[in-house]
Amino acid sequence: MTSDLMIRTERLLLRHVQATDAEAVHRLAGARDVAAGTFLPHPMDRQAALRWITERVEEQAAGRGVTFAITLAESGELIGAIGMELVPAHEQGRLSYWLGRAYWNRGYGTEAVTALVEHSFVSLKLHRIYAPHFHTNPASGRVLQKVGITHEGRLREHYLRFGQRIDVELYGMLRQEFIARRPANGGGTSPRES
Ligand SMILES: CC(C)(COP(=O)(O)OP(=O)(O)OC[C@H]1O[C@@H](n2cnc3c(N)ncnc32)[C@H](O)[C@@H]1OP(=O)(O)O)[C@@H](O)C(=O)NCCC(=O)NCCS
Repeated sequence: MTSDLMIRTERLLLRHVQATDAEAVHRLAGARDVAAGTFLPHPMDRQAALRWITERVEEQAAGRGVTFAITLAESGELIGAIGMELVPAHEQGRLSYWLGRAYWNRGYGTEAVTALVEHSFVSLKLHRIYAPHFHTNPASGRVLQKVGITHEGRLREHYLRFGQRIDVELYGMLRQEFIARRPANGGGTSPRES
C-alpha cells in the first residue's frame, strides 16, 4: 500500500495520518468522553498526540497496521481517525475508530467503518476483521450492527479502563460474509480508493 492512498466516501475523505495532524488529534481525542470508549492515551497533550501519530506511522511501515485520518471531504477538516491492527499470519485485522465529540450521531462513524471494511477485504485481502467495544459504549455497537458485522459474544470484565472493569462486546466479519453482503456489481455507493 502506498502512503498517499486515500479513500473517498459520500462525505468523507480517509487519508493517512501525519505529524501535522497532532494539534487536531490532541484537541479531539484528548477529550475524556472520546478516550473513555477507547485505549487512546489519556490525558493527551500535543506531544502525546504526536507520539500516537508516530506510532501509527511506524506500525504502518512495518505492516502491522493501517490508520487513516477521517476528514470532511469538502473542507479537509480532521474529525477523527480509524484504523486496524493487522496480523498478516492470520489474514486478520482489529478495527478501532474515534470521532471528536462534536461529530457524533451524524452517521460519520458508520460511513468510515463501511469504507474501512471494504478496504480490508478488497485491498488488504483479509480473511477476518473484528472489533471489540466496551459494553458501556452502545453507540459503537450500533455502528458495527449497521455495517452488518456480527455480534460474536461478550468477554466479561475483559479490560480495565479508568479504574473500572469493563465487559467487552466482540463483533466480527468473515470475508465470505462481506462478499455475500456486497451489491452484485460491487459499485453503487461503495467507497472509492485513489
Ligand atoms: C463510536 C463512535 C465512533 C460512533 O460514531 P458516530 O458517527 O456517532 O456513529 P453514527 O452516527 O454512524 O451511528 C451512531 C449510532 O449509535 C446510536 N447511539 C448513539 N448513542 C447511543 C446510546 N447511548 N445508546 C444506544 N445507541 C446510541 C445512534 O442513534 C446511531 O444509531 P442510529 O443511526 O440507528 O440512530 C463515536 O461515538 C465515538 O467516536 N465515540 C468515542 C470513541 C469510541 O468510543 N470509539 C469506539 C471504540 S470501539
